[in-house]
Amino acid sequence: MSDLPTNSLSKVLHGESATLAFAASMAPLLTSGGLIFLQGTLGAGKTAFSRGLIQAMGHQGPVKSPTYTLVEDYPLANTHVYHFDLYRLGDPEELEFMGIRDYIDGDSLCLIEWPDKGQGVLPAADLTIELQDLGESRRIILTAASSRAELWLQQLAANDADLQAFSSGGAD
Ligand SMILES: Nc1ncnc2c1ncn2[C@@H]1O[C@H](COP(=O)(O)OP(=O)(O)O)[C@@H](O)[C@H]1O
Ligand SMILES: [Mg+2]
Repeated sequence: MSDLPTNSLSKVLHGESATLAFAASMAPLLTSGGLIFLQGTLGAGKTAFSRGLIQAMGHQGPVKSPTYTLVEDYPLANTHVYHFDLYRLGDPEELEFMGIRDYIDGDSLCLIEWPDKGQGVLPAADLTIELQDLGESRRIILTAASSRAELWLQQLAANDADLQAFSSGGAD
């Protein structure tokens, strides 16, 4: 176990403001884009996290949940962000019809809530972020599955002593 690379970090976030602040701390790392899956139950904080990140990347104004639109588009100064919520997706093939690959292949940052609904069509993520609802707080777990995401985690860990590192299988 101990010689597995460290590819996961976790932290408990107390209150929504902590979720927003943590998401904002990731913004400088993500300007060259990537694919991030956001997992967790309804109300776990996936959209709150996305809002903190998208606003910290320079979007002024609200970040609404893409539950009904499937995707919201944020053309920003440093990168293009696409925020997906696949909760209401009937069939993963709908993603093919909307040209999902054009969103993902490129330098844009794609945040995808409910990625399981797109299984079979979505490519593998660079990073999976899981939010666990602990009631008054949330546990966030970040798991890197690409070398660029491993670099993101290294930089986050270097700047935040509260982040606990551990190894989780399946991402090497
Ligand atoms: N760290 C936290 N501790 C407690 N409550 C939080 C935290 N982060 C977010 N919340 C709350 O959890 C809810 C998350 O809602 P939302 O982001 O829409 O969830 P999801 O997109 O996962 O369905 C909001 O009511 C928000 O205020
Ligand atoms: Mg949501």
